[in-house]
Amino acid sequence: ENHIASTLPLFGKNIVVSAGPTYENIDPVRFIGNYSSGKMGFEIAKVASRMGANVQLVSGPSHESVAGFPIERTNVISARDMYEAMHAKYDTADVVIMSAAVADYRPKEVADQKIKKNDEDLTIELTKNPDILKSLGEIKKHQLLVGFALETNNEEEYAKGKLAKKNLDFIVLNSLQDKDAGFQKNTNKITIIDKDMSMQSFDAKSKADVAKDILNVIVKKL
Ligand code: CTP
Ligand code: CA
Repeated sequence: ENHIASTLPLFGKNIVVSAGPTYENIDPVRFIGNYSSGKMGFEIAKVASRMGANVQLVSGPSHESVAGFPIERTNVISARDMYEAMHAKYDTADVVIMSAAVADYRPKEVADQKIKKNDEDLTIELTKNPDILKSLGEIKKHQLLVGFALETNNEEEYAKGKLAKKNLDFIVLNSLQDKDAGFQKNTNKITIIDKDMSMQSFDAKSKADVAKDILNVIVKKL
């Protein structure tokens, strides 16, 4: 590429992106996790970097890489680690994109030692994790705040509810209805719902192209 940096559409903008799953420990050798690969968030980070932004990526456990990009990567494990990392970067952020699949619950107690196999049934009590995005929405100042929603039913209604409750500028609804969309796939089909409740639907495309669509909407809003 042969751009003059200052002409790039996100030149000088500080963008914080979260990606991947979180892992919530049960004992020293076990955790509760989810199937998020981190691909969507990593693509957003890379495309934003190519568009001239200063990108900070906060990632849960993921095999994805940003090698070769001038991206500052912070690795976290649990939702509470991610909460700390996102809040630490919030004041200086112009844009925050929360694409991580944060665990809603964690084990109430983490066993010090490996849990031994005994009875036929084992119950692990869970407690709610902090809602990172909602907490960022509550203290939002100049930041453009973007969330994701993954729904299996009543998708528009639920996504609009999250947009309002978390004080977002827009929300990216991942349509699972589409066989090509979702976790561990290379393509996504999204609908962007703005805080004015207007909706924009996109065709199924590669996660890199979805990242471009999302960042182009952000460029228009900055
Ligand atoms: N999110 C977050 N912290 C959490 C849970 C979710 O920051 N503890 C963020 C996600 O990164 C995403 C948005 O909130 O950007 C919506 O996540 P989602 O799981 O779809 O919604 P929830 O609010 O967790 O509600 P539910 O899972 O019950 O649908
Ligand atoms: Ca959730």
